[in-house]
Amino acid sequence: MKLLKGLLSAALIASLATAADYVIKFSHVVSPNTPKGKAADYFAKRVEELSHGKIKVEVYPNAQLCGDKVVLRKMKFNAVQMAAPSFSKFTGLVPQLALFDLPFLFKDENHLHKVLDGEVGKKLLDMVTKKGYVALGYWDNGFKQISDSKRPLIKPEDCKGLKFRVMSSKVLIEQFRALGAIPVVLPFSEVYSALQQGVVDGQENTISNIYTKKFYEVQRYMTLSNHGYLGYMVVVSKAFWKKLPDNLKKVVKEAFKEATAKERIWAKELNNDQLAKIKEYAKRTGKLEIDTLTPEQRKAWETKLRSIYPKFYDTIGKDLIEKAIKAGE
Ligand code: LMR
Repeated sequence: MKLLKGLLSAALIASLATAADYVIKFSHVVSPNTPKGKAADYFAKRVEELSHGKIKVEVYPNAQLCGDKVVLRKMKFNAVQMAAPSFSKFTGLVPQLALFDLPFLFKDENHLHKVLDGEVGKKLLDMVTKKGYVALGYWDNGFKQISDSKRPLIKPEDCKGLKFRVMSSKVLIEQFRALGAIPVVLPFSEVYSALQQGVVDGQENTISNIYTKKFYEVQRYMTLSNHGYLGYMVVVSKAFWKKLPDNLKKVVKEAFKEATAKERIWAKELNNDQLAKIKEYAKRTGKLEIDTLTPEQRKAWETKLRSIYPKFYDTIGKDLIEKAIKAGE
């Protein structure tokens, strides 16, 4: 009996010693081997180290816990503590975030980072914070490429009549309408089967998402269009944040800063490496045609797609759009 009691109290002490004071459930929808997936894992590791085990971060990739539509709702009542949905997923909450969905807005990553790290980026973080989240900052992914199963997409008109999966964003819906195509809003977790079963003909996404979710295996043509940008805002549940002591808030912010610096590098590296892998697959199997655009062809897409901007002067704000463009000059 004595021995049993001793064992039980030892087990209790051990469990108390390892139990964290705070648990952060970090939910995301992509694979671990993506810029966001790697950054979330690294963030988890650093938070645990810097907090000396006081905070435990459980990362749930691949929409294991929930999709992006549900996650922002769950965070409101602290059922999930952290997430990093793509900008498009916030547009129901803060329509101005559709700024990032505008096609051909950013010349390159440099231009994008100037916007994120400057006045516009700060303003958008504040807007999300006002909606009852703690907006920590931004994580990169990359420029989107377009693919389909019917024909090469070289001219904007080639999209006519085709169905494309889009994220839930009015800009993205309008973008495909401008091309004469039919946009279909679907959660990320349903894209592969929708492509495979022909529910939609095509999609647009970053290379890392196309590669890790194997979309390229169920598409016949992919154009390296770089026509739009996909990135993330990292948010924390306000209810959780309120309960966290100041010294641990500092830890979370520091780990986020470190993860963000690494994430920007990983985003570039992974998108490059995984494009090389898709190219290898295309060459080996002959099942995928990868097209690049000449400067003239690209100009035709740009002219067509930029024509939708005025439709969003009211919802996004003309001044915000102009400021974002100016940051790249
Ligand atoms: C998508 O739905 O295509 C993206 O938001 C997925 C992601 O998080 O990168």
